[in-house]
Amino acid sequence: MALNHELLAEKMDLKSQINIEKLPRHIAIIMDGNGRWAKQHGKPRVFGHRNGVTAVRETTEAAAELGVEYLTLYAFSTENWNRPKLEVSALMRLLVETLHKEIDTLNKNDIRLQAIGDLSKLPEKTRQALLAGIENTKNNSRMTLVLALNYSAKWEIMEASRRLARQVQAGTLSPDDIDEATFAAALNTGGMPDPELLIRTSGENRLSNFLLWQIAYAELYFTPVFWPDFRKEHLYKAIIDFQKRERRFGKISEQVAP
Ligand code: FPP
Repeated sequence: MALNHELLAEKMDLKSQINIEKLPRHIAIIMDGNGRWAKQHGKPRVFGHRNGVTAVRETTEAAAELGVEYLTLYAFSTENWNRPKLEVSALMRLLVETLHKEIDTLNKNDIRLQAIGDLSKLPEKTRQALLAGIENTKNNSRMTLVLALNYSAKWEIMEASRRLARQVQAGTLSPDDIDEATFAAALNTGGMPDPELLIRTSGENRLSNFLLWQIAYAELYFTPVFWPDFRKEHLYKAIIDFQKRERRFGKISEQVAP
């Protein structure tokens, strides 16, 4: 009991250290370490993914409570198709199950669901569950939860290039008018602010083909915590760390100091 109280006090203390005025508008997370977490517990990899859902729920709730506008989670990369067939199908089933279970909670919390990635290649059931979730939550406005599914940043950049090239070919766009804003709008994330904070769990320090265009100025935060163990306090710690950094965007210190 005493320990629970201490943990709660620590969580509240961390939360109170966050400056709500300086929250990142968009946080992106590479959820990593489910497999290793499962191995540590002597269980199959899928057990790690199942417990990863608890971390998804906690993180989404914490971000929405704070007032973060966008939370993007890397749930399945294009490269993940290379995993054992059984793991891929279990992950896809888990997605359907979680989407069905959590839609009510998303609505209760006024959270809108969106997705980025090549959704056309997802199994039909997963795609349908996802599209239904997006449709059912489209009028919510407190926070947008973006799931990156069958996502690859290089694919997204190529897709945007193709889209713009088609417009040039059709004569509706001049090559000289392609600037950062036009290009950003042609990406899957068109209309969203760029992530200001990118978190990766499990001690890996890589970007793994995630949001490469959008994170040009993001602060990167790496934590050794395996994703299934990630809780609200870990998100708070990442945000506190983010707020301690000086974001200069190429300028010198004196130009950005308040
Ligand atoms: C990375 O751990 C995790 C994934 C590729 C899948 C993430 C999926 C979930 C948390 C479950 C469902 C998600 C939602 C949004 C409902 P890993 O398997 O690469 O771990 P390892 O590096 O230790 O092997």
